[in-house]
Amino acid sequence: MRTTNRRAFLGTTAATVAATGIARNAFAGGSADDIKVGIVGCGGRGSGAAENVLEAAKGVRIVACADLFAERTQSLRKKLNDFLMKDGPAKSFGNRCELNDDNCFTGLEAYKKVVASDANYIILATPPGFRPAHLEAAVAAGKNIFTEKPVAVDGPGIRRVLALEDEVNKKGLAVVAGTQRRHNAGYIATIKQIHEGAIGDVTSLRAYWNNPGIWFHKRQPGMSDAHYQLYNWYHFLWICGDHIVEQHVHNLDVCNWIMKTHPVRCDGAGSRTPGNPSRPTGSPEEVGNIYDNFSIDYEYANGVHMYSSCRHLAPCASNVSEVAVGTKGVCKVNAFTINGKKVDFKFPEKRGDYIQEHTDLIESIRNGKPLNELRAVAESTLTAIMGRMSAYSGRPVTWDQALNSQEDTFPKDLDMKGTIPVPPVPVPGKYKVT
Ligand SMILES: NC(=O)c1ccc[n+]([C@@H]2O[C@H](COP(=O)([O-])OP(=O)(O)OC[C@H]3O[C@@H](n4cnc5c(N)ncnc54)[C@H](O)[C@@H]3O)[C@@H](O)[C@H]2O)c1
Repeated sequence: MRTTNRRAFLGTTAATVAATGIARNAFAGGSADDIKVGIVGCGGRGSGAAENVLEAAKGVRIVACADLFAERTQSLRKKLNDFLMKDGPAKSFGNRCELNDDNCFTGLEAYKKVVASDANYIILATPPGFRPAHLEAAVAAGKNIFTEKPVAVDGPGIRRVLALEDEVNKKGLAVVAGTQRRHNAGYIATIKQIHEGAIGDVTSLRAYWNNPGIWFHKRQPGMSDAHYQLYNWYHFLWICGDHIVEQHVHNLDVCNWIMKTHPVRCDGAGSRTPGNPSRPTGSPEEVGNIYDNFSIDYEYANGVHMYSSCRHLAPCASNVSEVAVGTKGVCKVNAFTINGKKVDFKFPEKRGDYIQEHTDLIESIRNGKPLNELRAVAESTLTAIMGRMSAYSGRPVTWDQALNSQEDTFPKDLDMKGTIPVPPVPVPGKYKVT
């Protein structure tokens, strides 16, 4: 049940529900207009996910939203109203955006208002440093959840997320994560073939997220430290987790899905390249404290190794992919080929992964067979955190060390107007795994 594919997972979950009499989700078997969506984090992904859920099924209403900044909630309202005017599934389904001045909330505590609203389907799409707290609030309130990846940035955060698993199951809640490859027909068919032995026993894996770089938002006049770091969040460890966690988690998740488990140890390297043209140079306070490249050797309990590489380095080559090698051949997983031959599958018509993940989540709620992807995404997130700890320290790190780590990166007494000291860029040999 941990990191299995959707069909197998549905079967297991249904069996568990039947055997234990776990509470049925209050919305199971719901009728028209039963999916009431609240959005936490109205930036690029939050607003994208809001459109995706409107296209995913009939009976969807957007009923509340939260962001740090009013301009984001306002732009979400406008974007959704414009989107619903356009011909397409969202409009033809009769889905609605009911956002107004009374249900758009702003500030660090605004998520609490969305969780307390009558939304029964919460989209969590802030940067990941906030995810454990937001997941805890949504689960405590008994809400179904679509959570973006990653779900934490450090060991203490992962422990908080894993601690929610029982409550999610007891309450019969559904949780789907933004590791959308798990909802892609090509990945599902390809990994099913691997599990059925198409490449024999898996002997090694490779995972890559190499690209020239990501956005950088320059500090604007008058911004406090907190405001600037939240605005330029990708570049600060406490809120982003570094790019191996923030981005490469997708490819690590695919490898864990293939292996049906997580690695038990790793040993890796990484650095922040002086003069990398993909970002400005400056002190960590000015330009952040994350690395721009990682190269990690992961080992699973059965001795299989996964080589992982991720970089944000201009003008280097791009490669976002996964490969599995077995005793009977090679699978280029993201290309959906096994020994050079395309795997046989069909994509659902006009529906990408970003929509499919919501269709699957809604269907699971309505059928009373709630998907729960919390453990899978938490384990993939910790896989990435473990790799980061190894590169930062220059030492091998075990799963238990990463899971039990005491390194809590979240600032104490976070306040939008406050000062947040920025730790130096980690130096292998000096940085200690705690
Ligand atoms: N699955 C995918 O393919 C995919 C793609 C893009 C982003 N993401 C994920 O989505 C998340 C957000 O990324 P993004 O690109 O939308 O970033 P973004 O900067 O565009 O949006 C983040 C929004 O969250 C708001 N925010 C920050 N802290 C908040 C808080 N405590 N409460 C409420 N709002 C808060 C910000 O003001 C901003 O509007 C990240 O975890 C990222 O990994 C996933």
